[in-house]
Amino acid sequence: MNSGTGKTALITGASSGIGQELAKLFAQDGYDLVLVGRREDTLDRLADVFKSNYGIQNITVIKKDLSEEDAAQDVYNQVLEKGITVNILVNDAGGSTYGNFATETDWEREKKIVHLNVLATTQMTKLFLKDMVARNEGRILQLASLVAITPFPLMAVYAATKAYIWNLTQSLINEIKDTNVTMTALMPNATATNFFREAGAPKLNVEDMLDDPAMVAKDAYKALLKGEAKVIPGGVGNKAQELMAYVSPQETLAAGMRKMLTPQTEKVSKKDSTSGIVWGIGFGVAVLAGFALVTAYNSSSPIDKARYRYQAGKLKDQAMDLFDDADESLSSAKDSAVDKWAGIKKIASQVLSNTFA
Ligand SMILES: NC(=O)c1ccc[n+]([C@@H]2O[C@H](COP(=O)([O-])OP(=O)(O)OC[C@H]3O[C@@H](n4cnc5c(N)ncnc54)[C@H](OP(=O)(O)O)[C@@H]3O)[C@@H](O)[C@H]2O)c1
Repeated sequence: MNSGTGKTALITGASSGIGQELAKLFAQDGYDLVLVGRREDTLDRLADVFKSNYGIQNITVIKKDLSEEDAAQDVYNQVLEKGITVNILVNDAGGSTYGNFATETDWEREKKIVHLNVLATTQMTKLFLKDMVARNEGRILQLASLVAITPFPLMAVYAATKAYIWNLTQSLINEIKDTNVTMTALMPNATATNFFREAGAPKLNVEDMLDDPAMVAKDAYKALLKGEAKVIPGGVGNKAQELMAYVSPQETLAAGMRKMLTPQTEKVSKKDSTSGIVWGIGFGVAVLAGFALVTAYNSSSPIDKARYRYQAGKLKDQAMDLFDDADESLSSAKDSAVDKWAGIKKIASQVLSNTFA
């Protein structure tokens, strides 16, 4: 018997990307499924594949636009009417707009994104969590993002919605700590799905470094079943990015992230490019410092652990100073390069005038 036999997982956003990969993992483990999304045909096709590949018989498809008022309540009512108990809820459905908030993005579209990412996720969580707490069992996976903890210019509203989900999740984890219900925040880095095209973005710099959605789903699935509070899928680079977000000045982070969201056809502005260098330096420092501290911390006594926590605080201050110094030295290097270039031009013009005089 598979680990999921007799249990049901409800996945919103199961029709593509990370949600689809997660649905596949649940199907492989024998879970019954409720698949939610707007593309009913795609969900029906997926259900047929899961039935024939993994022998899952109970798959319910609910066609729903979760950006509409009380859509989550309607999904919950349909599940209740069918007599389904949801043991695992995956709030995956989400989206973004792309562009400058003041001059480019459309408010009606932004309103729908806030509804989908924030209101629908909150309402789904409220409705299903109440039942899970009453039964004293259940697990919820919330799609946050690594940009929940950094600025993300050109996807500003999106990042703000993910910050909300991250914060909500960590508060609720505390509220349910005395129950057997768990909640996990999934914080992927940029991932190769339909996400950027759906947001209306052109080909972006970040798309040269996308994570595999199957890897993201696999790491998320493991963490969810273990009841971990958060999961950053992938290798050390993604974990280091989290560390960077906690130690870097917001302005520097914003410039680095903006570079990621700049179209591949556009030149990155000089200012953002300089900040990118600073970001790179800081990134390296944070990775090394993070590794050293984590290694020492894990293998030390409680007294040493307290000492390391104190040192971590000091390290943060030092990292801030380092960023300030790097900023200063880059701008003074730029000034001196400009001076030297002016000198070279002057000498060259004198030589040329003397030669051809
Ligand atoms: N890709 C990334 O770089 C990345 C990074 C961090 C976090 N995330 C988060 O991961 C989640 C999944 O995104 P993805 O990357 O897998 O993108 P995706 O391939 O575009 O998938 C988005 C899913 O959400 C569903 N959805 C979108 N709008 C909906 C609506 N109004 N009502 C119901 N369902 C809707 C879509 O289904 P239908 O079209 O059938 O409705 C689709 O299944 C999102 O919450 C996203 O914010 C993505």
